[in-house]
Amino acid sequence: MVSNNFSIGFFDSGVGGTSIWKEVITLLPKESTIYLSDSKNAPYGEKSKEEIIALCKKNTEFLLNKNCKLIVVACNTATTNAITFLRDNYKVPFIGIEPAIKPAALITKTNTIGILATKGTLNSALFEKTSKTIRKDIQIQETIGKGLVELIEGGQLNSEEMSVLLSSYLNPMIANNIDSLVLGCTHYPYLIPQIREIVGSKVKIIDSGQAVAKQTKNILTNHKLLNIDDSNPAKHQLYINKDKTALKQLLYPIEAENIEIIEREF
Ligand code: DGL
Repeated sequence: MVSNNFSIGFFDSGVGGTSIWKEVITLLPKESTIYLSDSKNAPYGEKSKEEIIALCKKNTEFLLNKNCKLIVVACNTATTNAITFLRDNYKVPFIGIEPAIKPAALITKTNTIGILATKGTLNSALFEKTSKTIRKDIQIQETIGKGLVELIEGGQLNSEEMSVLLSSYLNPMIANNIDSLVLGCTHYPYLIPQIREIVGSKVKIIDSGQAVAKQTKNILTNHKLLNIDDSNPAKHQLYINKDKTALKQLLYPIEAENIEIIEREF
């Protein structure tokens, strides 16, 4: 029997999905969580759909063995390649994350939006389907952020290499007159200060973290699974199958007392 004080599960190819996890625990402070950082297998974005599905299966089964009541797929690449498989094969509710090109299309004035995402996301059938729903007069400048996930996983957020790579991806988009930039990978919100320096103040940077948190609340409410028991404080376990240094760096300065980081295989 699923109980409303069970945890919400999360997984990502690595540490980036914590950008979503932070939004969820902020909106739902009574909820306990279990987060899987599959850093050993990052990046997912360069893998085939079959490989991504196999990794998503492994992560989902780990979280189900821990009795998670709902799973947030905190990764655009995993969602766009595997969410249909997951929903067809497991009973637990899944929340996915997709690049927010629809909201960007509603606000663009130059009719040109940029999207930075992984190869796996941009080449997926789901992304292609969503792109087709956008008004025909809107141009979508797609760019693969090759190498960015690896640098974030390696704790190189503020490195020279990061700024060179980001400039090489963003400058052509600015030259093409984008006025909104969709961050189509959950690792990228950690780069917002560096991205802002390159694109300036006029480009709107859009990510989906808050929308995913609201959707998580709605689905828990609809399934009558919101935790209403506040006799015990929420607990958060973050599993990582590689060195935890980058993860700790990204969590700072979140209060550590109810957060446990566990380095182990899964
Ligand atoms: N955080 C993942 C995403 O949202 C990164 C993908 C990767 O590992 O390549 O797409």
